[in-house]
Amino acid sequence: MTTGEQDIIRASGIKRTFGKGQGAVTVLKGVDLAIPAGRLIAFKGRSGSGKTTLINLLGALDRPTEGKVYFAGREMSALSDRQRDEIRRKEMGLVFQSFALIPLMSAYENVEFILRISDFPAKERKDAAIRALDQVGLGPRMHHRPFEMSGGEQQRTAIARAIAHRPKLLLADEPTAELDSRTGLHIIKVFRDLVQQQGMTVILTTHDPAIMEIVDQVYELEDGQIVAQL
Ligand SMILES: Nc1ncnc2c1ncn2[C@@H]1O[C@H](COP(=O)(O)OP(=O)(O)O)[C@@H](O)[C@H]1O
Ligand SMILES: [Mg+2]
Repeated sequence: MTTGEQDIIRASGIKRTFGKGQGAVTVLKGVDLAIPAGRLIAFKGRSGSGKTTLINLLGALDRPTEGKVYFAGREMSALSDRQRDEIRRKEMGLVFQSFALIPLMSAYENVEFILRISDFPAKERKDAAIRALDQVGLGPRMHHRPFEMSGGEQQRTAIARAIAHRPKLLLADEPTAELDSRTGLHIIKVFRDLVQQQGMTVILTTHDPAIMEIVDQVYELEDGQIVAQL
């Protein structure tokens, strides 16, 4: 294992307990990870194994009860909420199972709107939005609204929205769960292209065995621990 300089994300001994006293539940029971930049990674595991909890910790949406998370060499758990928000906003992108697009806005407007509220330079917004939509193959459909698009197209819009500011790390929690498996594979191909063309790191969670075949590495979670690395 490397010393961590080129690891985009590292977790060391992370535990996460919810609740207190008798009702306390330890959901992550000591997770260690070191993910080099420029990889496509999947977390797999049964429902309740801790995938979402782990991805939330890596994305600084939550803090570990014990242990440390490093993002690009910085110890995230040591930073203030404000610093963490800033890093998340500028250097990370998030994609969820539900696409959560704004219904009255076109694909382009959905992407541009996010850049607007995240103080991305005004002059570069339009180009960045169009570029991201092109990258996910939605250039020709960028003026359609969510209800005029298929599920796969809506998820690609959500991915465009998550990458328009060119994050180093993209975290996607069950991004294909609401899609049929063929459409799901198209989404993974989009991630694969982002990794290859931009050196982005993509970490996703999935149940789909076909997806596990095409990622660079699979971490299997069971009951709050990584039990296999494939
Ligand atoms: N905020 C919370 N409070 C209490 N228990 C939680 C909380 N979040 C998750 N859990 C529990 O942690 C376990 C793992 O959840 P999760 O990380 O969502 O698993 P997965 O994404 O693999 O399905 C589940 O048993 C879940 O009920
Ligand atoms: Mg989950």
